[in-house]
Amino acid sequence: MAEVAFDYTNLREVEGGLADGDVDGARPRLEEAVDQLLGDPPGFMRLPKTREYAEASASVAEEIRGSGATDFIHVGIGGSALGPMALHRALNHPYYNALSGRRGPRIHFAENTDPGTLSAILDIAEPGGTWVNAVTKSGSTAETMANFLVIRGRLIDALGSFGHQGRTIVTTDPEKGFLKEISEREDLRVLPIPADVGGRFSVLTPVGLLPAAVTGLDVEALLTGAAQCVDEVEARGAEHPAVVGAAMNYLMDTERGRNVRVMMPYADSLERLAAWFVQLWAESLGKEGKGSTPHGAVGTTDQHSQVQLYMEGPQDKVIEIVEVEEHPRDLTIPEAYEDIEGVGYLGGHTMAELLNVECDATRRALTEAGRPNSTIKLAAVNEENLGYLLQALEIQTAISGTLYGVNAFDQPGVEAGKEITYKRMGRPGY
Ligand code: PA5
Repeated sequence: MAEVAFDYTNLREVEGGLADGDVDGARPRLEEAVDQLLGDPPGFMRLPKTREYAEASASVAEEIRGSGATDFIHVGIGGSALGPMALHRALNHPYYNALSGRRGPRIHFAENTDPGTLSAILDIAEPGGTWVNAVTKSGSTAETMANFLVIRGRLIDALGSFGHQGRTIVTTDPEKGFLKEISEREDLRVLPIPADVGGRFSVLTPVGLLPAAVTGLDVEALLTGAAQCVDEVEARGAEHPAVVGAAMNYLMDTERGRNVRVMMPYADSLERLAAWFVQLWAESLGKEGKGSTPHGAVGTTDQHSQVQLYMEGPQDKVIEIVEVEEHPRDLTIPEAYEDIEGVGYLGGHTMAELLNVECDATRRALTEAGRPNSTIKLAAVNEENLGYLLQALEIQTAISGTLYGVNAFDQPGVEAGKEITYKRMGRPGY
């Protein structure tokens, strides 16, 4: 059973926070938005229950692991990379690639077109034992195709003109696109990204499931957590806390001028989760002059970097703390220097205790300073809770799109830059 809780108390109980009337006033629109989501559910809503890609992803993952693969390179960008990276960072060992007893091959993410990063991946990956997964729904993203072509070249050098084909997977729209064409020409394994699931909502398709399964994560538990979230939203509608959060954040932006939403997990492992959410919120809602600006931070690290701004800077932010009750590991701080009062007091406490005390201290300090904040509490960082949270944030974002009156599922603003790039790089027709 996933254990994820949302607490908006401190969006109401601070000066300048929301009043009951604000929330009640938004209720009819919120109910309408939920009815719309549940009445005509977007593709991402069905994935946790149909589990339609779990088996195919698990079976390709088994083949990769069974082949004695040394390295798995996931090539993708934006929605085709951030979800799997968030899962990997949250649920695998932080130094997974360096572990001798790890549950699968090393994993690398080729995302940006920075030649330094790609060269570094190629320095590490052993060409003879490398699998590559080219992940692009459109099949034409320049960054992904360029990274893929370089890696493919290395595999051909190592394995021959046909040998690379057995080590290449493409994850793409099964109906159209250049990558589909390549997969047919070279007889490559294909995993589908369904047409009705947009990139940033695709973490529970093979985009996220394959790399998760390759590294030994529990894909079933991930989907179970997400399905629990869908069930609860179906049962509770506008009362579900993730849904309420859509209205809360919308009102804080449009009625209170707080147009920056900071997601601040108190766990290093959730830093990429915040990055995933930043894309989800920004690309879904930043349209027609609307939308609030998402920002990622990490506690306690950013207490020593950004919290000064959150406490005393412009009153334009809502801070969303992500708290973890039980950290997967803990360490006791040894008793030492007991005669030095600024050091000795730490002895006997644990690192997790310190982290969670600082989390609570930041929340209280923000509240006392009249700085609106909310909390998402995870009982633990595990597959089930992550599945629940990813699904909840996708639902919240989709509903926010309706509240803002924008289409949460397109991204017209990124096309202009792409077209200029295509033209300058000599793509025919541009
Ligand atoms: O959310 C989105 O749709 C985008 O961020 C895409 O995922 C990103 O642009 C990559 O697109 P593609 O998967 O087609 O390569």
